[in-house]
Amino acid sequence: MKTVEAKHLVKTYRNGEVKALNDLSLDVEEGTVLGVLGPNGAGKTTTVRILATLLKPDSGSAIVAGIDVIKNPEKVREVIGLSGQYAAVDETLTGWDNLVMFGRLYHLGRQKSVDRANELLERFDLTEAAKRPITTYSGGMRRRLDLAASLIVRPKVLFLDEPTTGLDPRGRQDMWSVIQELVTGGVTVLLTTQYLEEADQLADDIAVIDRGTVIARGTSDALKTQVGGEKLEITVENTDIAKTQEIVAKVSGHSAYVNTRTVSAPVVNGSRDLMEALRALDDAKIHPLDIGLRRPSLDDVFLSLTGHVAEEVNEEALTPMKGRKK
Ligand SMILES: Nc1ncnc2c1ncn2[C@@H]1O[C@H](COP(=O)(O)OP(=O)(O)O)[C@@H](O)[C@H]1O
Ligand SMILES: [Mg+2]
Repeated sequence: MKTVEAKHLVKTYRNGEVKALNDLSLDVEEGTVLGVLGPNGAGKTTTVRILATLLKPDSGSAIVAGIDVIKNPEKVREVIGLSGQYAAVDETLTGWDNLVMFGRLYHLGRQKSVDRANELLERFDLTEAAKRPITTYSGGMRRRLDLAASLIVRPKVLFLDEPTTGLDPRGRQDMWSVIQELVTGGVTVLLTTQYLEEADQLADDIAVIDRGTVIARGTSDALKTQVGGEKLEITVENTDIAKTQEIVAKVSGHSAYVNTRTVSAPVVNGSRDLMEALRALDDAKIHPLDIGLRRPSLDDVFLSLTGHVAEEVNEEALTPMKGRKK
């Protein structure tokens, strides 16, 4: 069963000057995680805001948990949780006050609100910080509180807009396990991300979006397979790059790509091609620093789908996809 189903969404800003969504359709199967992957400006937040009833599309339709988001926004709000860039958390209050307040807003009643706040603070490892104002919280703690707030009413569907953007690797790991736990508990999740690795880790299914429309859809594996077989990658000393490029191109039958000292090209015969390259390198007296077969990454997927690179190499373990230059 589809828990989320959006069809042909179009959304423009500034009297039609900016086309944020251009016929975007997607769906999320009950109890699964859909990763909406795209660079800055692709239309992720706009999509989430429409599904969470905060924004009306110019045209198109969307159903969440069987309810029409345009016709019955109040009903939709009763069954969803939303966490992300527009957090409704009050900075001056403590974490505990915030959660109790949310409970009251959702008409849980005093005792239930308190119980739920305590339970969520415990679960998100915020019990010690419960009585401190949010202003004293770290980025990771804020995100966890924000997520806790979105869980007050035990939503059927959870929308997470870039839940780990700006977090350090530790905070990101914590958030990933929390999200995984929620999914195990049966919540249907739509999460947006600019991180290829995040979609890879968390999502059952991925919708790659670019310029307001879905350009590819499938499991991480399927998307990688769609790009085609494996890649031969050989890292050599600087002086050996040119010759290695020649060898790799010959084995591959395609031109070889050089990134610093790593030479790569697609291959279809796996280990046979690997052996052939090794022999040719040996004949040329080249000793590779590293050699291997690699499956294409989601980054290769993005490149092959759009013709532009999604990610730039950088010291960070995870780097966001770069926004498109306008
Ligand atoms: N309130 C707004 N007014 C004008 N343009 C907007 C507004 N919100 C978003 N946009 C534009 O719409 C496009 C999609 O934005 P957004 O949905 O925020 O993308 P993402 O979340 O993927 O970064 C971008 O070009 C952005 O600049
Ligand atoms: Mg956004």
